[in-house]
Amino acid sequence: MTSLWQATAPTIGFDESSPRRPDAVVVGAGLTGLATAALLAEQGATVVVLEARVPGAVATGGTTAKLSLLQSDRLHRIRRLAGGAATQAFVDGSLAGQAWLLGLLERLGAPAEPRSAVSFASGDEGAASLERELEVARELGLPVREGGAEHLPFPTAAALELPDQAQLHPLATLAALAAHLRAHGGAIMHASVRHVRRAGSGVEVETDAGAWRAGSAVLATGAPVPARGTSVLLEAHRSYAAAYRVRSLTAEAAAVLPMALGVDAPTRSLRTATAADGTPLLIAGGVGHVVGRHRDPRQLVAELDRWVLRHWPDAARTHAWSAQDYRTPDRLPWIGARPGSRGRVLLATGFDKWGMTGGAMSALAIAGRLGGAEPDWARALRRRGTTPAAAGSLVGSLGAVAAAQARTARAALSPTPPPGEGQGSLGRRGARLVATSTVDGRTREVSAHCPHVGALVAWNAQERSWDCTAHGSRFAPDGTRLEGPAACPLRALPRSVDERAGGAGIQP
Ligand SMILES: Cc1cc2nc3c(=O)[nH]c(=O)nc-3n(C[C@H](O)[C@H](O)[C@H](O)COP(=O)(O)OP(=O)(O)OC[C@H]3O[C@@H](n4cnc5c(N)ncnc54)[C@H](O)[C@@H]3O)c2cc1C
Ligand code: FES
Repeated sequence: MTSLWQATAPTIGFDESSPRRPDAVVVGAGLTGLATAALLAEQGATVVVLEARVPGAVATGGTTAKLSLLQSDRLHRIRRLAGGAATQAFVDGSLAGQAWLLGLLERLGAPAEPRSAVSFASGDEGAASLERELEVARELGLPVREGGAEHLPFPTAAALELPDQAQLHPLATLAALAAHLRAHGGAIMHASVRHVRRAGSGVEVETDAGAWRAGSAVLATGAPVPARGTSVLLEAHRSYAAAYRVRSLTAEAAAVLPMALGVDAPTRSLRTATAADGTPLLIAGGVGHVVGRHRDPRQLVAELDRWVLRHWPDAARTHAWSAQDYRTPDRLPWIGARPGSRGRVLLATGFDKWGMTGGAMSALAIAGRLGGAEPDWARALRRRGTTPAAAGSLVGSLGAVAAAQARTARAALSPTPPPGEGQGSLGRRGARLVATSTVDGRTREVSAHCPHVGALVAWNAQERSWDCTAHGSRFAPDGTRLEGPAACPLRALPRSVDERAGGAGIQP
């Protein structure tokens, strides 16, 4: 589904040619990729960005785009999982990334909108969590204070506020970064990367549009592609968001509504935006799940609508969309080198739905490292060890992958009728598991096994996609890869199916 940002995005476009031997190739034109490329180009490097879809096609086009250091109750959770020094490095890096991006956008004439960030609790458990968050935030030097919920139209049990944060139009931000990159000689090419391997003292990047050779490559692809080993350690979380026109939300009321985020389940996220005609819009989001593991995500969007209408009865939905991001076992981003690449293939992932600051911070870390001036916080973050708490969290998430596989395989054993319009189901054809869906009157069959490492996919009726139940790769009904760590599509199956569809035609 198209997000508000994608519906109102400035055109970025692709370049027709680029040097085939640049200093650096950046894979992925989301916030992380374009910020990194812009910084490298500013430092004097020749840079080529390779993008498989269009700039902002994936997480950056579906984000809620709050550029904030108050991230729900995340700091005390990170400190428990990663320890105090790594958490301090994360805060220092986030502050540096935020300040750099805000400053650059101001200079480029595409400034962010200043706003307070507020975390709120609806019950006692959430309030206790915010108490711990306040303590940790203050120890880490952030000017977080109690309060800030007075403009929210519902009661709260507790709230924390961090002033002087900002909200972005993420695709206007990408357009500004792309223009800055091009002004420094960089190019953005349409190419899907298949392999990145070391070659001599640099790297070779193989794509569907030919090969590039570069001194180094940066994988800014969400889940790192291609980097199979790293991706299995990440947990993919998908969330749903919607924009609403609200008659009673005046420009004045919108200007004082903070960027708010609830700490209780289910998560509620709020901010405002401006429609093309200048009127304010409300954006709500947050209902989420591990990718591929919700029975019917359409219910989540309906639930979001009900919640918004309870508090803004004159709201009318204009857009609904969803996106996903990746979580590491200690919830800190991974910004470092792909194992075995001798520092030639760098990657940035694991932003846990905070990649506006995380992407900007990664750009500073990677451009600093390649330019020989890696910031101290980046080195500390890169060299952190695995704590017992983080190892426990990894074991829990691997166990959940195994349980999801078993559940999905069991469900595929029961016979199912051909799926109706907008539906998909798994079934058996001989010894093979097949994923069958019907969309816009076309029934298609593809392999039910994800090409990443072979886990099963499940149907997402909201997005009409096949979503992998293990590490979050997603595919269109015909098997085309949409996102995630799989580097290739779901295998289309030949038309050898019995004619259950009554001649309607099962398409490969
Ligand atoms: C619902 C939701 C709400 C969020 N809200 C916030 C928020 O309020 N604040 C915040 O800080 N963060 C937020 N986030 C997180 C943030 O949006 C992401 O962390 C961030 O956008 C990640 O940017 P990225 O550039 O790393 O990845 P992406 O934007 O996903 O970009 C990766 C790019 O790589 C391309 N690509 C992938 N594979 C290949 C390949 N093989 N070859 C070529 N190109 C390839 C993709 O097409 C894509 O364009 C949110 C996330 C979600 C899901
Ligand atoms: S994404 Fe890893 S097996 Fe599908």
